[in-house]
Amino acid sequence: MMKNYKRHLITAALPYANGPVHIGHLAGVYVPADIYVRYLRLKGEDVIFVCGSDEHGVPITIKAKEEGVSPQKIVDRYHEIIKKAFADFGIAFDIYSRTTSSIHYKLASDFFKKLFDKGEFIEKTTKQYFDIEANQFLADRYITGECPQCGNDSAFGDQCEQCGSSLSPTDLKNPKSAISGTKPMMKDTLHWFLPLNKHEKFLRTWLLEKNKHWKTNVYGQCKSWLDAGLQPRAVSRDLDWGVPVPKEIKGSEGKVLYVWFDAPIGYISATKELTDEWEKYWKQEDTRMVHFIGKDNIVFHCIIFPIMLKAEGSYILPENVPANEFLNLEGDKISTSRNWAVWLHEYLDEFPGKEDVLRYVLCANAPETKDNDFTWKDFQSRNNNELVAILGNFINRTVVLTHKFYNGRVPSKDTVTDYDKKTLAEIPRIKTSVENSLDSFRIRESLKNAMDLARLGNKYLADTEPWNLYKTDPDRVKTILNISLQISTNLATLISPFLPKTSQKIAQFLNINPVTWDLVGSDNLLKSGHIINKTDLLFEKIEDDAIEKQLNKLEKIKKQNTLNIKPVNPQKELIHYEDFSKLDIRIGTVVEAVKVPETQKLMQLTIDTGIDKRIVVAGIAEFFNPEEVVGRQVAILINLEPRKLRGIESQGMILMAEDEDGSLKFIIPDKVTKPGSVIS
Ligand code: 2FM
Ligand code: ZN
Repeated sequence: MMKNYKRHLITAALPYANGPVHIGHLAGVYVPADIYVRYLRLKGEDVIFVCGSDEHGVPITIKAKEEGVSPQKIVDRYHEIIKKAFADFGIAFDIYSRTTSSIHYKLASDFFKKLFDKGEFIEKTTKQYFDIEANQFLADRYITGECPQCGNDSAFGDQCEQCGSSLSPTDLKNPKSAISGTKPMMKDTLHWFLPLNKHEKFLRTWLLEKNKHWKTNVYGQCKSWLDAGLQPRAVSRDLDWGVPVPKEIKGSEGKVLYVWFDAPIGYISATKELTDEWEKYWKQEDTRMVHFIGKDNIVFHCIIFPIMLKAEGSYILPENVPANEFLNLEGDKISTSRNWAVWLHEYLDEFPGKEDVLRYVLCANAPETKDNDFTWKDFQSRNNNELVAILGNFINRTVVLTHKFYNGRVPSKDTVTDYDKKTLAEIPRIKTSVENSLDSFRIRESLKNAMDLARLGNKYLADTEPWNLYKTDPDRVKTILNISLQISTNLATLISPFLPKTSQKIAQFLNINPVTWDLVGSDNLLKSGHIINKTDLLFEKIEDDAIEKQLNKLEKIKKQNTLNIKPVNPQKELIHYEDFSKLDIRIGTVVEAVKVPETQKLMQLTIDTGIDKRIVVAGIAEFFNPEEVVGRQVAILINLEPRKLRGIESQGMILMAEDEDGSLKFIIPDKVTKPGSVIS
């Protein structure tokens, strides 16, 4: 650490309270932040760790409307679910608050007022869509219409979910209000803007010169924002859900603070709720503030919030913002709307007691420098090959042998060899490597380094083989087990930031309280004569069927998604009756059918059209066998220009109905009809 900081204020992004949390949240933000905080606490640092639910914003109001309940009901529900999930996984916040708390309303409102009074905002009147029937302005998400890119007629005012284009409400053709379904009109509205551009010089110095130590992904994103040029940004909205714009401000009626203005202030309100000394953490230069966030939050935490803090005038700025990239699931982007996620509450139902296993896998796979993938196979193999085979194996062998040979009494260390000394000297070295990685937010590397201590212990046991040696040299075995127990005691503390429950379990096996961080590295933490407890297994193997079950679940979701995602084709443009009447569509009967060799899809049909018997090549072979087609009546377009398919001339086209999943069905008359009957 470059400066002499006296205390640490660690924040973790406030999750939106419009759904439960999933593994992507844990891996990207909360597990790394929690590990870091636990590490600081173990070192005896003054640290507070704050978080809470982000309870404003349009998606929450949309969800409320869909369910026919108030937004408060929605956030009350998810706040509890999220809070519980974090507690279950041992995310040790000092406070998990919420942005609908009264402390927050007052603080956010006062903050806004102070910036207003200092002249830090620009007031601007802009035109925005307004729903006359509902008598309200429409947030971008509340406007639907035709996507100018792909024609999807239910694109949103901020994005088309079919083609992924980013949109503005005015891009949409035939815009409609999602509230009343009516056509919205443009209406003037007054808003307050934070002129980000005014602060460019300060940002260039602070971000680009003073924060060169930040992670390259964060630094790079900040630089490209700055290089692209900053614009004034609206910090208020026309909405009835949020912190109201202070009523002393003229024109404030019906306006609330933009959710991204109030959310980061939530860190301050949470601290205020936690301690009367909150200003010490937020306003004294000897506090080190660190924001743990996901990459989509970088601009808000590195540009907008610092500008707000700086403009207010009494707050400190973050010392670091270690943002992570995203975690994918089995190769696909995690998505709440597609249910493509591993939800924490579901994981706990299915793997009870295995909170640390998930913490371990997510940390080992944390998307620190690039997006990463969570796969169930990797989860299984990290559990079986690392937690069970390395950490669990070492601790269990040590404890079991101590019971077997010495009735659980720690033996003395009398015959220390050079090899023993070399082994013991590794403990402080490993500790330093864990510290170095943690200090620079390389959390996955730090976990690997901590596991090196378990690897060291396993190697020591494998090299010295106390189970064989006992018969011939029991004195030597005393020393070996003493050393193994010293390693175990060190391990209980060294892994505790990563695996808090496991650390407690090891301490319970050893019948100790985990030692503080400063003692890690010592070779004499357990005194000889100390009695240790009996053990059960630290970790258990995860079998294939548990993994298969998860994979099948995802497979089902994927199928479901393919069915749902395929959009209903929009209507084609209008045609005249004459256009239709040009089509000569008849009922025919299939008299012969064979698959076209070396193709997947094609079948050669001979059809009795009432006029003639002709060959038609149809792409139906994936859905029907030739035997089940012969004898069927079909609808056939007979005046289609003949064309060759795989060398066979096709004289017409069979009409089929295509399902959402791409499967085909014949179109048949409801009673058998004479071949040649005209369809019109
Ligand atoms: O992206 C998100 O989930 C936001 N709710 C994060 C807010 S972080 C902070 F500023 F409150
Ligand atoms: Zn589109």
